[in-house]
Amino acid sequence: MSALAFIHRFEAGTRPGATPLLLLHGTGGDENDLLPLGRAVAPDAALLSPRGKVLEHGMPRFFRRLAEGVFDEDDVRRRADELAVFVESARTEYGITAPTALGYSNGANIAAAMLLLRPQVLSGAILLRAMVPLSAAPQVDLAAKPVLIMSGAQDPIVPAEKAARLADLLRASRAAVEHHVLPAGHGLSNADVTMAQQWLRKITARIDKTAAA
Ligand code: MLT
Repeated sequence: MSALAFIHRFEAGTRPGATPLLLLHGTGGDENDLLPLGRAVAPDAALLSPRGKVLEHGMPRFFRRLAEGVFDEDDVRRRADELAVFVESARTEYGITAPTALGYSNGANIAAAMLLLRPQVLSGAILLRAMVPLSAAPQVDLAAKPVLIMSGAQDPIVPAEKAARLADLLRASRAAVEHHVLPAGHGLSNADVTMAQQWLRKITARIDKTAAA
């Protein structure tokens, strides 16, 4: 039984150098939801998958919201902090390096909040159907941190303009952002998986090259 403060799943990686993934589910999901996606995107990486602690009509989330797309920003800040502490403790417990977040919807939004509030906790992020989580974003230096944003052109929950604002905000903080708009809605498509795989392979090769130099 783990003393870590979030219910979670951990799967060890099979390649020591592979960047671990922090899997962050959407509203109503849990710690099991994204394991298959994580395995597909990073077959040899360690996977750390917490369950969001906020319940909305019984559905787990990572922070409270006042309405669809309207966030309780004090709670966003508090929960991003709490999740960051969990990730740091899990790194010690499982002996892993700083993970890249792979978040979907509400999970992508808390990952974006962690990038802005606790940037040292994540080595990068894959944000699927994300939007700007804070109206007054803090000044932060994301110094070339790799971020992939995938949005859906027909997404009724995250209009393309909201995803573009997140990309702009992260770019202004010097993150290395790739933003793709897919012919999709809020749900994930095969293209999300393929493009996330390709992006992660590219990023990992870059990290390996730097480490070998
Ligand atoms: C959120 O609340 O984080 C977003 O509206 C996405 C969602 O969970 O529906």
